[in-house]
Amino acid sequence: MKITTVDSVTYGVPDLARAKQFWSDFGLSLEADDERRLLFSAMDASTVEVKLANDPSLPPAIERGPGVREATFGVETQADLDAIAAELARDRHVELDREGTLHTQDPLGIAIAFRVSRCRAVTAPDPRFNVPGRTGRLNARGEQYSSARPMEMTHVVFMVPDTAVEVDFYVGRLGFRISDAYPGRGYFLRGGASNNHHNLFLLNPGGTGAQFGFHHLAFEVANIHELFGGGLNMTRKGWKTMLGPGRHPISSCYFWYFLNPCGGGAEYDFDSDIVNDDWVGGEFEQTPEAFAEWCLAAGMEESLLYQGVQTGETIEER
Ligand SMILES: [Fe+2]
Repeated sequence: MKITTVDSVTYGVPDLARAKQFWSDFGLSLEADDERRLLFSAMDASTVEVKLANDPSLPPAIERGPGVREATFGVETQADLDAIAAELARDRHVELDREGTLHTQDPLGIAIAFRVSRCRAVTAPDPRFNVPGRTGRLNARGEQYSSARPMEMTHVVFMVPDTAVEVDFYVGRLGFRISDAYPGRGYFLRGGASNNHHNLFLLNPGGTGAQFGFHHLAFEVANIHELFGGGLNMTRKGWKTMLGPGRHPISSCYFWYFLNPCGGGAEYDFDSDIVNDDWVGGEFEQTPEAFAEWCLAAGMEESLLYQGVQTGETIEER
C-alpha cells in the first residue's frame, strides 16, 4: 500500500468564477474549464478540481458551505491500488471509476480516493543563495518573484471530532506513518511511500467552534523568496490572509495561508521537513508556540511599509 502523495483534491463551490480567479492568482495552471468544472495543476501534475456544489457527481458534503468533497491519494503501482481495494472492501463500499480511481469513505464519512499517481518528480532551480562561506551568486542580483508557481501539492488537512478512529484507519489499514503528533488531538501522517513530513493532518480542534470539516490544502514553492512573492501577489490582488507569513516548528516550514472562496485555506510552504524511515517523530503539546514559532496574524496588507510600496509614498510623507 505504497501511498506516495496527495494526487488530487476536489472542491464543491457555489461560484466557479471566484474559484477560477483564486487558483489562477495562487499560481496553479488552468488545465480545463467548462460550465460545470475547473481543473488546475501544480508543477508536479497534482490537480485541484472544482465543481459546482450541487453537481451530482460529487460525494456528499461533510459541512455547510464550500469545501473539499474528496481527497485522492496517489499510490505507486496498480498492485498497490488492488491491495487497497481488497483491504477496504472488507468493511465498506468501494467503487472503481472508468479512469481507474478507487472511491470510498473513511470512518467519519470523509470521501477519499486512490489512483496510481499521476504526479511527477519536480526539482526546484538552484536558489543561488549567498551564505557565509558559500557563495551561490557572485556579481548577480537575487531573483524577485512577482507571483508564485506552486511546485508540489503536499498535504490536506481536516478537522475531525475523533482522531483515534481516523488514525486506526489511516495507519492500520492504509499504511500511513505518524511523523509527529499532538497525542490524542492531532496527527501528522505521511503515506507509506512518501517523504513529505505529512500528506494528511487530522486535528481535533476541541472547543466550541467547528469540529468537522476541511481546513486547508498546502503546496510547496521553490524557495523563501517565492513564498513571499506569492503571498504579496495574493495580497495585492485582494485575497485575505488566513494566517501568516510565519514559521511552523513542526515540519519546520515557512508558511502563508490565504482564505479560499472554495473553502478553508490555501497554503504556500517552503523548506518543509523531508523524512524517511530514520525520522524520529515527536509528541507535542498543542500550544500556540507549537503551531507557530512566529507569524503575522493578518498578513501584510496593514503594513505601513507595504502600503507605502504600493502607493509610492515614503513612510516620512505619511
Ligand atoms: Fe499546512
